[in-house]
Amino acid sequence: MHENPVPKPYIAEFEHLGFGMFIHWGLYSQLGQGEWVMKLRKIPKEEYRQLKSTFTAEDFDAKAIARLAKLAGMKYIVLTTRHHEGFSLFDTLRLSDYDAVHSPAGRDLIAEFVEGCRSEGIVPFFYHTTADWYQESYVNDFPAYLAYLQKSVEILCTRYGKIGGFWFDGNWDKSDADWQDDVLYGIIRKHQPEAIIVNNSGLHQQGEYGHPEIDSVTFEQGRPKPLDRRGRSKYVAAEMCQTLASYWGYSSIDFQYKSVKELILTLAACRKAGANYLLNIGPTATGKIVKLQEAMLETVGEWVRLFASALYTAKPCGINGHGSDFGLAGEDAKLYFFVHDLAVSGDWNVTVPSGGVGPRTFTGVDKRIRSIKWLDNGEELKFVQDADSDLFTFQATGYPYGVDYVVRVAEATL
Ligand code: GLC
Repeated sequence: MHENPVPKPYIAEFEHLGFGMFIHWGLYSQLGQGEWVMKLRKIPKEEYRQLKSTFTAEDFDAKAIARLAKLAGMKYIVLTTRHHEGFSLFDTLRLSDYDAVHSPAGRDLIAEFVEGCRSEGIVPFFYHTTADWYQESYVNDFPAYLAYLQKSVEILCTRYGKIGGFWFDGNWDKSDADWQDDVLYGIIRKHQPEAIIVNNSGLHQQGEYGHPEIDSVTFEQGRPKPLDRRGRSKYVAAEMCQTLASYWGYSSIDFQYKSVKELILTLAACRKAGANYLLNIGPTATGKIVKLQEAMLETVGEWVRLFASALYTAKPCGINGHGSDFGLAGEDAKLYFFVHDLAVSGDWNVTVPSGGVGPRTFTGVDKRIRSIKWLDNGEELKFVQDADSDLFTFQATGYPYGVDYVVRVAEATL
């Protein structure tokens, strides 16, 4: 047992990806009512499977999706190779004819996805369901189902080159079953030794540790807390996945969109806890990116670009301020201070007074600071550091008129 486990290099690399795109896309996208529509609207299997005959994927442009991810500052994409409905976006090599190559699309969409990602320098990850509403064996002959699941994953491990990781989801559906995870993860370790293995612990078990091969815990739709890793034999990363509106799969009648402000606050909160943020989009029936979703991600990307040096490799280090303010330790003798609720300086006739300007104090700063400046415009900031305590205070100037970043980051040099 290590007192404080250190991350294996591939897990540290995953943490440095920081911000990723989740994509839920499948037959359900044609109905535009979320990815659970088959189950929750009780659509008989015989009726639902007809959706295969209208699945064209004609607007699915993997390269364009990867470009959007890059613009948003995302470094990896997790795509649903198969969701609970049981339909595969990859060529299952006749394991089943319920796949994209046997639909009007007639293409291996996972091959396109992987290629699109690589052309933009984005790391591809595969979501794969473990629960399956389509395979009879899932209900009648579980060992046969597990063999089918394992063969499917073996195909994904061996036909698409190096994969960033596997994101499983569905064990919660049969929580007492023996899922033979040793076998499943063994297949991955054999072919993709450095793939991140995730198995979603679900909405209600956020941050829960699982099988020893698991490399990252999940915080589905939550707020990650820093993991207490003391006494653990392995360093495990953390990731929080979240929908842009209510559903993962496309819904044309879901108006519950988050604001860009909320997305920025959430990304900052994830990094505060040392967790990755995996933000979902749901392309349409034909694989088109929804315009609003695209615009939101592009806008978040503008923010990410301003503060990029503080967002990927910087780690929690016990620095905290008032309210949501916090600090991270960067590489190369830098500290980053995330400042919330900063006032916009302006005229009473045009700006609504909110937030504050002036001193921001942080605890937990145990290193001598030489200078500090806003990352976005390089403005040097006045500061005082108490020689005997871990208190550090700097003068946070407000946003100039015309600017509001929601969260502003200052970079201190040691
Ligand atoms: C849930 C849902 C699912 C979604 C997933 C993403 O477990 O079953 O539809 O894919 O969360 O985190």
